[in-house]
Amino acid sequence: MLPTAKRSIQKNCTDCHGPEGLVLNFADDGGPEYYGTIASDNPWEFVHKARFGQPGVADMPALIDLGFTDQEYIDLLAYAQTLPTSSPVAEGGRLYDNWIAAIGAEDMTTDQPLWLTQTTNTRTGNDTWRCKECHGWDYKGVEGRYGSGSHLTGFPGVISSAGKTSEELMAAMKTGDHDFSSYLNDDQLKSLVAFMQQVEDMAPYINDDKTVNGDAENGKVLYESNCLACHAEDGKALDFDDGEGVEFVGTVSADNPWEVLNKIQNGQPGEVMTAGRHMTWSIQDLLDILSYIQTLPIE
Ligand code: HEC
Ligand code: HEC
Ligand code: HEC
Repeated sequence: MLPTAKRSIQKNCTDCHGPEGLVLNFADDGGPEYYGTIASDNPWEFVHKARFGQPGVADMPALIDLGFTDQEYIDLLAYAQTLPTSSPVAEGGRLYDNWIAAIGAEDMTTDQPLWLTQTTNTRTGNDTWRCKECHGWDYKGVEGRYGSGSHLTGFPGVISSAGKTSEELMAAMKTGDHDFSSYLNDDQLKSLVAFMQQVEDMAPYINDDKTVNGDAENGKVLYESNCLACHAEDGKALDFDDGEGVEFVGTVSADNPWEVLNKIQNGQPGEVMTAGRHMTWSIQDLLDILSYIQTLPIE
């Protein structure tokens, strides 16, 4: 029975949820929820949603319209219950981006203690606790994009972490002023470690002048089938602005392609958004998407 169920999931669900159901996290990373999680924890909800679709998600199919039999729902559920319920690398990537938003924690009212050892970056509060703010979107810290400008801190990157053991990295996350263990539990720290162990240099993908080595035409096809439903054709449906002007998909892609590559690989912390590394996409496909969204309006 399972092979048929697998085919029907592949046909109807993987476009958005990916082959293992890990592309969309419906909760936050305080307790991630993929469709494998729902199938196991709340099989009634899973079958209901498979049967009737998801309110507000126009393109999610309602299998009832496709004439599924009871046995086919049972098989689909049985298969979905075999799918994974965690995705350490992508969860780690979202925590690296903004663990406070990723786990839905309260805003930080102080500055991270190591922050006080530098004076060049004048940000305060939450930003001073974000891994990316000290170590960079390109993982190179002072050696990379944050080696100058308003983000300069003088702190090192984590690019050398890729070669380190889990024990070494876990220890670094629990040491002195770099101790995050009162905020993040061991599973979350392990996800960060798994993420850092696979970070790679983005220099072959993104050039210093912010151009991306991708094929925008292929990117357009992927954007239209996977991103358009939430971001609209012109990328303007969601504005990420935090007070100064507008910030659309096109704006942030032109300004900071390193940040966007992180987000389209791992998803947006605390939001339901595609984690591209769990689609059947290659890194080249992600670069193609990034090339295309750099052509979208910036204002
Ligand atoms: C066109 C894209 C798309 C397709 C195809 C799709 N889904 Fe979804 N699905 C979504 C989105 C987007 C959400 C999350 C909506 C939200 O929470 O904002 C979602 C949510 C869900 C949820 C959980 C919702 C919750 O509120 O916790 C389940 C379960 C689910 N989908 C199962 C399926 C199954 C099974 C299939 C195949 C029969 C499928 N989906 C196909 C886009 C899709
Ligand atoms: C306020 C700035 C700051 C923040 C925020 C920060 N770090 Fe660091 N990190 C540093 C500094 C400075 C060092 C090097 C000196 C040290 O070890 O104290 C470092 C070192 C590291 C190292 C290397 C340790 C080693 O010896 O191999 C890793 C890995 C690391 N950080 C990961 C992270 C992760 C993951 C986060 C997010 C949860 C994070 N850092 C948040 C400043 C920061
Ligand atoms: C199910 C809905 C959904 C899908 C599908 C989706 N996104 Fe998003 N995306 C979001 C939400 C929600 C945000 C956060 C909005 C906010 O912070 O106001 C976001 C944020 C972003 C951001 C910017 C974040 C920032 O903080 O600057 C980028 C870039 C982005 N998405 C690109 C994409 C791309 C490319 C795709 C397709 C591969 C995609 N998104 C698919 C919902 C989605």
